[in-house]
Amino acid sequence: MTEQKEQSLNTQSVLSMRGAGYYSQRTAGAKDAIDSLRPLIDTAIDQLADMPVLRFADFGAADGGTSAEMWHHVIARLRNKGDNRPVEILYTDLPSNDFSTLFKTMQGMQEQTDFAYQDKFENVFVHGCGTGFHRQLMASNSLSFGFSATAMHYVSAKPCEIADHVHMVGASQDERTAFAAQAAADWERILLARATEMMDGGRLVVMNFGIDEHGRYLGNTGGQNMFDRFCHHWCQLMDDGVITRDEFIRASFAQHYRTIDEFTAPFTTPDSAVSKAGLKLVSARTQLTKCPYRKAFEADDTMDAASFAGQLIPTTRSWSETVFSTALAGRPAAEITAIVDQFYGAYEAEVAASPDGHAMDYIHIIMEIEKQA
Ligand SMILES: C[S@@+](CC[C@H](N)C(=O)[O-])C[C@H]1O[C@@H](n2cnc3c(N)ncnc32)[C@H](O)[C@@H]1O
Repeated sequence: MTEQKEQSLNTQSVLSMRGAGYYSQRTAGAKDAIDSLRPLIDTAIDQLADMPVLRFADFGAADGGTSAEMWHHVIARLRNKGDNRPVEILYTDLPSNDFSTLFKTMQGMQEQTDFAYQDKFENVFVHGCGTGFHRQLMASNSLSFGFSATAMHYVSAKPCEIADHVHMVGASQDERTAFAAQAAADWERILLARATEMMDGGRLVVMNFGIDEHGRYLGNTGGQNMFDRFCHHWCQLMDDGVITRDEFIRASFAQHYRTIDEFTAPFTTPDSAVSKAGLKLVSARTQLTKCPYRKAFEADDTMDAASFAGQLIPTTRSWSETVFSTALAGRPAAEITAIVDQFYGAYEAEVAASPDGHAMDYIHIIMEIEKQA
């Protein structure tokens, strides 16, 4: 395998959200999805076993901006109830993540200070961990409450590149089967690592991208299919001779959208490794969160299609850009930027010219898991 190919299959070295706050500033839908879980999170925390220190973790937190209000709410609620126990929060992500913005946000050093909880409450300690969540990340039996949003659809390594599409949702049957196998092995590793970290009576709430009962998934909820549009515009660059066939193929997302059956499979039998490790599934359901940019466009008669497109495309860009820029590795940086700009520019022009059906609605599978004694 060539070094370039090996690197493109290894997601850990290349995957990251855009930094310097770009991710959370342009990902209002991810924040809406997290905020919608407050009742579930409040109940889970109320049901924790008695623990002298509350150790929380946010797995795959990116720059921390989308979950900051949720964590602020959790701590404010504890303190308002007179619960002054020490709270430790471990933010985890890949080593390439922008942890600097995250730490500044929690300390109130960014523009937005409303939810800078580390600054507002006593006895709250913020830590960072740059190791992927497929491994154990903290001492055994130490985690009270784990949380993860929109992160565990990333597979630890691409089992193959996708020849004629950019995502497993449009892959051939063989490619899709390979992604499903990788995702099943990864999911078991993720759960077993959490089982070791969690204290008895601890809880885990995860909301992950997936495919719902109606076959819907991110950017594919009835109108245009976002991943097909990515594929169309990437393919157009190949047809125009701007990128090579190899570069087209290398832009395969290192993601698998699991169905609810794939998510719940490790819990269905008492003799599975995950059940034996003490994890019990409390609940699992799917949820659609409307694209906030589409919602705003539909609610505002004065907004033109170009403004809508100018908001929708950056939200897709905040999490997808590294896939396309990494596929161009080996070219001069300025050339990569120009090609990637051309790619998103073409998609934006398409939406501006004909906005009907374009949206990035979110489809999540939401699960609550308990560690039993
Ligand atoms: C779409 S962002 C979600 C960020 C945030 N949790 C939210 O809901 O807005 C996905 C995050 O998962 C991280 N990620 C992907 N694979 C990971 C892994 N193996 N371990 C830890 N984080 C990972 C990415 O780096 C990225 O920051």
